[in-house]
Amino acid sequence: MKKVKWGVIGCGGIADRRTIPGMMGAKNAELIAVMDSNRDSSERVKEKYGAKYAFTSEEELLALDEIDAVYIASPVFCHMQQVTMAVKAKKHILLEKPMGLDVKEAEKIASICETEGVKLSVGLMMRFAAYHQKLHELILEGMLGEIVSARAQFTCWFPEMENNWRQQKHLSGGGALMDLGVHSIDLLRYITGLEVTEIAGMTSNQIFKYGVEDAGSVIMRLSNGAVAYVDSNFNVPDSASVSKFEIYGTKGSVVLYNTLSQVDGGEIEMILSDDSVGYDAMQKREDTKTEDIKVQFGNMYTREIEAFGNAILEDKEVYISAEDAICTQKIVEAAYESSKKGKFIKV
Ligand SMILES: NC(=O)c1ccc[n+]([C@@H]2O[C@H](COP(=O)([O-])OP(=O)(O)OC[C@H]3O[C@@H](n4cnc5c(N)ncnc54)[C@H](O)[C@@H]3O)[C@@H](O)[C@H]2O)c1
Repeated sequence: MKKVKWGVIGCGGIADRRTIPGMMGAKNAELIAVMDSNRDSSERVKEKYGAKYAFTSEEELLALDEIDAVYIASPVFCHMQQVTMAVKAKKHILLEKPMGLDVKEAEKIASICETEGVKLSVGLMMRFAAYHQKLHELILEGMLGEIVSARAQFTCWFPEMENNWRQQKHLSGGGALMDLGVHSIDLLRYITGLEVTEIAGMTSNQIFKYGVEDAGSVIMRLSNGAVAYVDSNFNVPDSASVSKFEIYGTKGSVVLYNTLSQVDGGEIEMILSDDSVGYDAMQKREDTKTEDIKVQFGNMYTREIEAFGNAILEDKEVYISAEDAICTQKIVEAAYESSKKGKFIKV
């Protein structure tokens, strides 16, 4: 089988912990070189995964003709410049979320890739979780009827750390909403097929006083009139964090536990109801039974790498487009504006 030869730019948390291990399991991928501004990190990751080369500059990695694609997993403030360099070197790009520090940067990134004919996809890998893929299919087929409400909650513990890039707005673009909220909002759009038309956001620095929000909550009007809520918190201890995703429709509901995660798994409770039932003043619930939804769990990062690899090898559309990721980034940006102005913002 023909394989995509990969270079990795940024060998820190997510690259080392999840994406490179996922790449190792991908049938159509071969890791050639890694680069990190920190020499120890690039050397360590090269040894750990058996790459041929370790570099500390993008130029050296991008000069390798044998590399077809790069995975960029550096801090957000580096994305724009590294994409520009990779495009010049004609490498296809899988870029970590969020695409850029703001929508303007994200749009510029998409535009230069398009102009130069370089494929670009974004690391919104939770779309590849088994339950999310299954629900995308079932909900678009109408299994829950008309969607009327949805709610997502994704939290973690992220205390103050000196010089941490994520805690400085000019390096990260934002806090809990930008980092965690993008996944929830992206999944909401992906699974329901609905767009966000209007948003009210509230951000806080209630517990941690760093330069980005430690919590962000949004209420969103969806394109069919339904309302969705997303909570993103950096201030709930990991052991107490709840990952929960709920979707309600006129024919049933679904609640997912622990699928907003880097590991494919979790539990699902789906209840379907006959929407021909009439009004019941007793609001009986004792007959409800949950559906048996079968899925095959796997590795979301392997699926992400394989999907992007196939788009390159077969010259087809990428599964997660830059336009899609920009839509989500626009929603996050509108939430910041709403929080600042204390008003609903049209998206
Ligand atoms: N999709 C996901 O599951 C997921 C999860 C976490 C993070 N992310 C995203 O991945 C990106 C990286 O996040 P992280 O948590 O791995 O960060 P991190 O801080 O753990 O790692 C970043 C790495 O980049 C290196 N670095 C810094 N400046 C660099 C430069 N100019 N060139 C190359 N390398 C440089 C650092 O030395 C470090 O090794 C961010 O965009 C983040 O939002 C995605």
